[in-house]
Amino acid sequence: MSEVKSSPSGGVRGGFVLVQCPATVANLVCGFDILGMALAEPYDIMKLKLIDEPKVIITNKDAYNLPTDAEKNVAGVVLLSVMEKMNNQFGFEVEITKQIKPGSGLGSSAASAAGAAVAANHLLNHIFSREELVQFAMNGEKLASGVKHADNITPCITGGVTLIRSIHPLDIVQLHSPPLFVTVVHPQIEVKTSDARQILRKEVLLKDAIKQWGNIAGLVAGFEKADTDLIGRSLEDVIIEPVRSILIPGFDEIKTKSKEAGALGGGISGSGPSIFMLCKEEATAKKVEQIMQEIFTQLGIDFKTYVTTIAQEGVKVVNAK
Ligand code: HSE
Repeated sequence: MSEVKSSPSGGVRGGFVLVQCPATVANLVCGFDILGMALAEPYDIMKLKLIDEPKVIITNKDAYNLPTDAEKNVAGVVLLSVMEKMNNQFGFEVEITKQIKPGSGLGSSAASAAGAAVAANHLLNHIFSREELVQFAMNGEKLASGVKHADNITPCITGGVTLIRSIHPLDIVQLHSPPLFVTVVHPQIEVKTSDARQILRKEVLLKDAIKQWGNIAGLVAGFEKADTDLIGRSLEDVIIEPVRSILIPGFDEIKTKSKEAGALGGGISGSGPSIFMLCKEEATAKKVEQIMQEIFTQLGIDFKTYVTTIAQEGVKVVNAK
């Protein structure tokens, strides 16, 4: 039997927690860095144990060859920040099984970061608030993309659709999320978030800002009122998408044909290369999947597709002892 003793924090050493960490779609087209939603699929699995030694031991149980050095690993830096907050009285052992491919635009780094924060909090008897968990997890995003942003982290932790009104100070608004279907295509090309951020213009024209504000407000109102037509009309980005979509072959064709097939709208998932579309009906979501498959097959680019829903729950404890 493994040793079980009480930690100074009140947590229990010797036990473990197994969490499921959902993929997320950041930006939701017009809400760069401020809007995001959790997906029911795909998700990562993470197993965490509290250990006596103040260090982080990482085992990757997937084929992505991510660093196991805690300071270079997204989950690792999050756990180090939790340990620092608790005066390094203990450490963690973590096993990560990623099913969300790094660099997919589906919040792979956020899943590792948020999963680590939530799992650690579980082992520490839930001493941290939602806001503190987001703060810890943002250290992982900083490592992955060079900038702290919470539009993947927050929905990954809380589920549903979230608005990050501000990160200094952190102000999270949980939005109502209507039961919509989400079709995602992940072309197997790499777009690094750091690169996709660097190519953005630093200044915005007032006329574009006005359009974007209208769309963001419309999208938030659409979610709150469950007004799917308003959601569809507001899924327009005049600032980021025109720049980033150039990196994604087939993007314009997928968007046009998906809308013709009945999708409400959609765009780049996070910083890409994945593309997502929201649909009212599952049958439409499947038609959209076919369109995406046909276009990437014609382009000769490997891809993976998902027809899924908005996950109402964020990082979920699936087993614990
Ligand atoms: N908001 C971020 C971006 C999400 O678009 O760069 C990707 O991590």
